[in-house]
Amino acid sequence: MKHIYNPPQDTSKPTFLLLHGTGGTETDLLPAAGHIDPQAGVLSVRGNVSENGMPRFFKRLSEGVFDMEDLRERTEELHAFIGQAAEQYGFDRNHVIAIGYSNGANIAANLLFTYSDSLKAAMLHHPMVPDREAKLPHLAGTRVFIGAGTNDPICPKEESEDLDKMLREAGADVELHWENRGHQLTMEEIAAAKAWYEKG
Ligand code: MLT
Repeated sequence: MKHIYNPPQDTSKPTFLLLHGTGGTETDLLPAAGHIDPQAGVLSVRGNVSENGMPRFFKRLSEGVFDMEDLRERTEELHAFIGQAAEQYGFDRNHVIAIGYSNGANIAANLLFTYSDSLKAAMLHHPMVPDREAKLPHLAGTRVFIGAGTNDPICPKEESEDLDKMLREAGADVELHWENRGHQLTMEEIAAAKAWYEKG
């Protein structure tokens, strides 16, 4: 997968897996990652799917309606890619923390829905429930920050609440943070994610 890799500045630091929104690229979340922890490593990936030229991490049938088979395949592909990158670059596979926005948050959520050990933690900005039929793995010990909008037209409030509930029921330690700026990823939300990260 097309990506950027920057090593962590010391071995105690995690590697941030950066996953952009629809139409974004692997450079979009670099400033956010630098703000949250400038010493963390970065593996920033570009989605392999193109929707009319806009990169995404999996196909959708319409706004908010996902191609479930493609979601499953792309989630497996991303999980395998993280493993290959850890071997190639020598970072700790067990210390990967996702930062995803919108479509990127949705595939990060689906990594959590599929594997108990793919992500140590995740910051999910404006995610949806990726798969309502999923039987989640045990996620005890996994920390998750959800940044959501009370008035997000793309990811309705109930999506964030249901995702929070499903992750908690699987044992994850979840913080649900609300903003009221629609689908935007604001500096206030990044600051809240940073405060959550620093508590971990
Ligand atoms: C998705 O397709 O993943 C969601 O609708 C969010 C987005 O528009 O990227």
